[in-house]
Amino acid sequence: MPNETIRLFHSHLSERDFTGEPIPDEVLDAIIESGRRTPTHRHGQQISLVVVRDPDTLRRLWEAIALGIAQDQRQTSERLGLNGGPPPDANLRLHPASKAPVFILIVADFHKTAVAVKAGGREQHVHESLEGWTVGAVDAGITLGTLSAAARSFGLGAVAIGALRHDPQPIIDLLGLPPLTYPIVGISIGAVRRPEKPVLKPRLPLSTYRHDERYDPDALTPEILADFDRELLDYWREIGRPGTTWTERVQPYSTSVHPETRIVAVRQGFTNVE
Ligand SMILES: Cc1cc2nc3c(=O)[nH]c(=O)nc-3n(C[C@H](O)[C@H](O)[C@H](O)COP(=O)(O)O)c2cc1C
Repeated sequence: MPNETIRLFHSHLSERDFTGEPIPDEVLDAIIESGRRTPTHRHGQQISLVVVRDPDTLRRLWEAIALGIAQDQRQTSERLGLNGGPPPDANLRLHPASKAPVFILIVADFHKTAVAVKAGGREQHVHESLEGWTVGAVDAGITLGTLSAAARSFGLGAVAIGALRHDPQPIIDLLGLPPLTYPIVGISIGAVRRPEKPVLKPRLPLSTYRHDERYDPDALTPEILADFDRELLDYWREIGRPGTTWTERVQPYSTSVHPETRIVAVRQGFTNVE
């Protein structure tokens, strides 16, 4: 019964073992055009992409991302009283996706609407509101999902890179993002090495995801959580990689308010996003 599109979505997995082989121009163009055709809030088109393929720029980008990740790990370790963070002088470990031939930065972009608002003789204010921030982030997410599915439809692998938000300023500087723009997330795309039988990462049960007619706040019971923790440990064992339960996994990120996003957002002109 499922068609090819549904099979593509149901087989989603993030892939990081890139071969480094370049993507043909016409394939990359088709992927990007899929992003450009996505819906945007009120046709505001508040998204731009920065497509990075130059090896030197890619290296500098991944080094900046690695520094941000290391900084986050140190802060998290201190905050949670763990000894796990890398020492400040540890050699930078680049993310495995740094071998991908293409990195596409998805930018929430209120620069273009500001140009149009000014042409209409007025001043733009939407970027000063949580509503504007939400619109940019939602549209970026739609773009991310679309680029990922488009890449996978060509047999390529893809992984989202939100880790760039640990320290976005060097990325803003490197890629020349003007005021009223913000790097929400990136995506690495390219040919990948795959295990013979790829294993999908488990998800919480449907009963905690799909709420018919009315949200059920008790859907995630302690038993379901414990079962899911066990299922995730089985997954790590099956793919032969170290990993934790979901309960442990959500601790480091979900126990901080990540002030750096707001600080850099305000610097980029997104004021009043408290
Ligand atoms: C917005 C977003 C940001 C992400 N950022 C990263 C990242 O920085 N590094 C990474 O390795 N994976 C990243 N991922 C991938 C998630 O870790 C992955 O989707 C999750 O573990 C589920 O695994 P799956 O996609 O293989 O099913 C990101 C995913 C999303 C949607």
